[in-house]
Amino acid sequence: MPKTMIEPFRIKSVEPIRMTSREERTRLLEEAKLNVFKLRAEDVLIDWLTDSGTGAMSSRQWGAIMEGDESYAGARSFYRLEAVIRKITGMQHFVPTHQGRAAEKVLFTALCKKGNLVPNNCHFDTTRANLEYLGVEAADLVIPEGLQPGLVHPFKGDIDLGRVEALLKAEGGRIPFGMLTVTNNTGGGQPVSMANIRAYAKLLKQYGKPLILDICRFAENAMFIKMREPGYANTPVAEIAAEMFSYADGATMSAKKDGMVNIGGFIVLRDDRWLDDIRNNLIMMEGFPTYGGLAGRDLEALAVGLEEGLDEDYLRYRLRTAEYLGDKLEAAGIGFVKPTGGHAVYLDARTVLPSMPVAHYPAWALCNALYLEGGIRGVEIGSVMFGKRLDDGSETYHKMELLRLAFPRRMYTQSHFDYAAEVIAEVKERAASIRGVRITKQPKFLRHFTAEFSWVD
Ligand code: F0G
Repeated sequence: MPKTMIEPFRIKSVEPIRMTSREERTRLLEEAKLNVFKLRAEDVLIDWLTDSGTGAMSSRQWGAIMEGDESYAGARSFYRLEAVIRKITGMQHFVPTHQGRAAEKVLFTALCKKGNLVPNNCHFDTTRANLEYLGVEAADLVIPEGLQPGLVHPFKGDIDLGRVEALLKAEGGRIPFGMLTVTNNTGGGQPVSMANIRAYAKLLKQYGKPLILDICRFAENAMFIKMREPGYANTPVAEIAAEMFSYADGATMSAKKDGMVNIGGFIVLRDDRWLDDIRNNLIMMEGFPTYGGLAGRDLEALAVGLEEGLDEDYLRYRLRTAEYLGDKLEAAGIGFVKPTGGHAVYLDARTVLPSMPVAHYPAWALCNALYLEGGIRGVEIGSVMFGKRLDDGSETYHKMELLRLAFPRRMYTQSHFDYAAEVIAEVKERAASIRGVRITKQPKFLRHFTAEFSWVD
């Protein structure tokens, strides 16, 4: 048996990418105020900024797009997608939104009020921002292992049930529901075990609190459970996913991830207790309940994509891709979050730039260095994304300084990964010459998207 795991697809349509010179990239990054979010995508060779909405759709999905029913109300495409979502999640009510953060906003506006507190393993940045915008405290309670990049543990996305219970006891009145993010993006794309989901749901139930899952990457999480959790090796991934959903009362989804589409999101709910409020918010914020900010063709592409995202050959290849890059980084002596996650590899910037002070944002500095060295774009998950400038001018910093390389689905081949591993190794060789940055301009929320920087001399 050959050992190489090949891409389980062949390519029908291609999009050229362009090499730039180091001089060009230096100029382009300066023009972008040292913030890779401000680069033009055309000036990036390998774009690993995000796995969100960036993947390649299948020929079946493109075919389905022609079936889109663009009726304002009651479109056939809505009912087709509703049937698929009911089958996968076992939940009755499906509310489409244009993407994940809209699902969060619509749901939180209906369920939360000022002064509330929501526990989660880790809130993603938009989830946290949507809660904080409503005056809600977002508590990150991932297990301690989940905060140690180099430590190998099969389910580093698990939530710390002891801390959840303490919060429920002390602050129960402030908690409208518990959340859990599968996989835990902020903590390294790490999976949550079935045992943890089950126990968390049970604990919440004892205190009369519902469980809302953030299911952007539920299929990857289900595949990790199949590969790592005792008792699931022979269970089909779709059944594992169904069991995960069975413990929840509702979920928010960014379909731009495991939905295998370029745009889309939704809320699912087991019963109708919040449905009227949610639909009222939806109509104000997104659109009529049978399209929710999407075109009929988007609903069709998603109906196909959700099923393709659960294909086990695809998922096995997908998780292996990240592991493959991890193996190469290990050989080059570069630290990363172990084991590798589902959708991404998270470099531990502190292992490449050990003496750079956190105030110079080492993960941001590493991100810039990868672009300058090889035209690769990643995203900082560190103190620019999760730190804050307080009103008194002081700064708070994040617990980890990570650089995430997130892989669009079905898009890059093995040679792209080989190239990236070489570039990263070269950056490590040049570490002494990598400069830190300082923030020269920043907005109040989600500052990493638009902040501007200058080099630290
Ligand atoms: N929740 C998680 C766990 C996410 O990773 C994201 C998006 C969202 C919610 C919001 O969904 O983008 O459709 O509005 N994550 C992307 C990323 C942006 O790059 O990780 P959205």
